[in-house]
Formats: sequence, structure tokens, C-alpha cells
Amino acid sequence: MFSAIDMAPRDPILGITEAFNADHNQAKINLGVGVYYDDNGKVPLLECVHKAETALLSQQAPRTYLPIDGLPAYDKAVQELIFGADSPVIQQRRAVTMQAIGGTGALKIGADFLKRFAPGAQIFISDPSWENHRALFESAGFVVSNYAYYDAVTRGVNFPGMMASLRAMPRGSIVVLHACCHNPTGADLSDEQWTDVIAAVTAGGLIPFLDMAYQGFGAGIQEDGAVVSRFAAIGTPLLVSNSFSKSFSLYGERVGALTVVAADADEAHRVLSQLKRVVRTNYSSPHMHGGKTVASVLTHPELRALWESELAGMRVRIKEMRNQFVEKLKEKAPSHNFEFVREQVGMFSYSGLTKDQVELLRKEHSIYAVDTGRICVAALNSKNIDRVVDAIAKVL
Ligand code: LMR
Repeated sequence: MFSAIDMAPRDPILGITEAFNADHNQAKINLGVGVYYDDNGKVPLLECVHKAETALLSQQAPRTYLPIDGLPAYDKAVQELIFGADSPVIQQRRAVTMQAIGGTGALKIGADFLKRFAPGAQIFISDPSWENHRALFESAGFVVSNYAYYDAVTRGVNFPGMMASLRAMPRGSIVVLHACCHNPTGADLSDEQWTDVIAAVTAGGLIPFLDMAYQGFGAGIQEDGAVVSRFAAIGTPLLVSNSFSKSFSLYGERVGALTVVAADADEAHRVLSQLKRVVRTNYSSPHMHGGKTVASVLTHPELRALWESELAGMRVRIKEMRNQFVEKLKEKAPSHNFEFVREQVGMFSYSGLTKDQVELLRKEHSIYAVDTGRICVAALNSKNIDRVVDAIAKVL
């Protein structure tokens, strides 16, 4: 039965980690996957997480099933985080939230739900977008197209192109937008540009699906999340996937959420019932530990303040690495201009390295990046940056 099965292609991001793990070079460096490492090259266990987990474990609570939509305290905390605690959307009970298996799980619940209720809609993702967006929506049965986004010449957003794409989309299309820290380019929209995007989405009768996996890694938690409430204020349907993998350094716990904003409380209630159906037929209900940990940090004032300062620390260190990367490349590769890396936002830099250069980095230096040239700046540190810069200068 399995004899005719072809080998599937390697995952463009997690496949890099597989290759990295198989490399015996002690000096190998993984700039592929979007994971934050501290200055010692370790994935941090945040102190707020450690404190919350210690308190939770001491309770020795039973491990019964969670509700299909997850922990009520977690879902409420997510809504307050992404919309703001006083949001009219929350007061009017227009939003429903499903605890999900990471941001990817949230996208998948949303995709399956949309396929059921908007089966003929087209999905539009940015050009380029997170590698898994296309695969995920296609596997839910959608035709996926791109909208213009990145301008390789200016290294910024091709805004006229993006607006033209939005205006040309058929009504009812679903447009996947990166709320902040665009993955993979690091090129974000300005507030004024978001105003125009929101107007185009509204005028075109499009359904926005905001993906927010990096809240807090751009300008700050509130600043990065601001666009979510701006979309919610329009009053049209809205989907938001968010993740705590990066912002809580809880990658393996798979903590994320899907929030859907409906027209009113009654509609939201019906939407929730259908979202629960999607989850029940996939994995029944989410896990407990990560959700409890995040909920207790978000709702406990002291832990919350600690989280905000630890997240700010990660954000600042990434910016420092961007600066050092640019300065060092100025010395080592003076004929190349990497100034744009300072302007990019979030964990990644779309470095401009070609596929061949990325391959040379991998083969000759055991430095791993995504084939598109995306590098994870959050994996640079004071001990590995010189080696990375030297190697890049050599392959350029
Ligand atoms: C990434 O873009 O590297 C992360 O979001 C991890 C993943 O699942 O791809």
C-alpha cells in the first residue's frame, strides 16, 4: 500500500533544523528557524514562566480534559492582550477565542472553519510570506495566491503594488496579513499604510486574517498589537491567530490562540460552536500546561510586569545584534550595504543572500539559513556574530 508513496520535500524551515541537527561540526550555527537565543546561545526559560510553573506544580492539580475551546482564563487573557482590556469587542461579546496548538494550530483551525463556511473564497498571502502559510491553506483545500508585498530594490514594502493587489481581489476573498514583524522580510507597514489597507479591505468586502506570532518583538506589546483593534473596530468579520512560542519562549508547549470577531454576541456564539466542531474532530481539546502558565503570567500583575520586562530585554538584544551585524559587515564587506538590516523589524532579516550563497554558508561554514536568504537575527550573539559576519563576507 505504501510502495508508491513519494518522498515529501523537506520542510523549508524545520528541514533546516533537521540538517543542522545532523551536522557534527561543533561550531555550527542555526540562523534558520525563528527561535530567540540569549547571548550564551541558549533558548531562555523566562523567569516569569519559571515562577508561574513552580506555583502551578505546587498545586498538584488533577489533569482532567480542558474544554474544547481551552481554558476560559487563557482565552479571556488572550482577548485582553490582543484587543486591550477595555475593548468594545470584548464588552459586546463579539469575539470568541479558541486556545490552539501554537500559532500554526490557530491558523489551521481558522483555515478549516473558513473552508466550511466560505468554500469558494480565495486566499491571498503576501509575496513572500511565512513558508507554511501557503501549504497550510492549500492543505485545507483553498486556492492560494499572492499579493504584492516586498520590494527587493528598496528592501521595504511595495505599498502601491500591495494596494493594487488588494483592490483587485474578488469580494469575499480572505487576506492573510502579518500584524507585526513581517515573516520573512522584517518589513512592516506604517500606521498610515495600515489605514489605507483597512480602508481597502473594508471597501473590497475582504475577510482579514491577521497572523500575529511576534507580538512584542517590534516596537512593544501594545504598539505591535494596535492594528488588531483597528481591524476589530471596522465591524466586519475578522480572524486573528496569535502565538506565545516566541514571546514566552515556550516553543515546545505549543501555546497559541485563534480569535474570531463576529457582528454580534449571537453570531459569535454560533461561530464558537462551529470552531469547537473543528477542534473536536481534529484533536478534541488542547493541552493544559502551556495555557495555564501563560494565563497565570498574563493575569498576575507581578508576573505580568516581569514578562513585559523580559520580552523588552529580548527585543532590545535583537536590535543590538542588528546594529553589530551592520557595523561588522561594513568592515568585512565594505562594498556591500547592509544598512537596511537596522530598519527591519522582529526576529528576521531578509538578508538578500542568494540561494547559492546560503548553500555555501551551510556547506563551507556550517551556518544554516533559509534558502530565501532569511536569517534569524535573534540567533546571533556576541560569541558567534564574528564567525557569521566573516562567513557572509566570504560567500558574498
Ligand atoms: C519560523 O518562521 O521559523 C517559525 O515560525 C517556526 C516555524 O514553525 O516555521
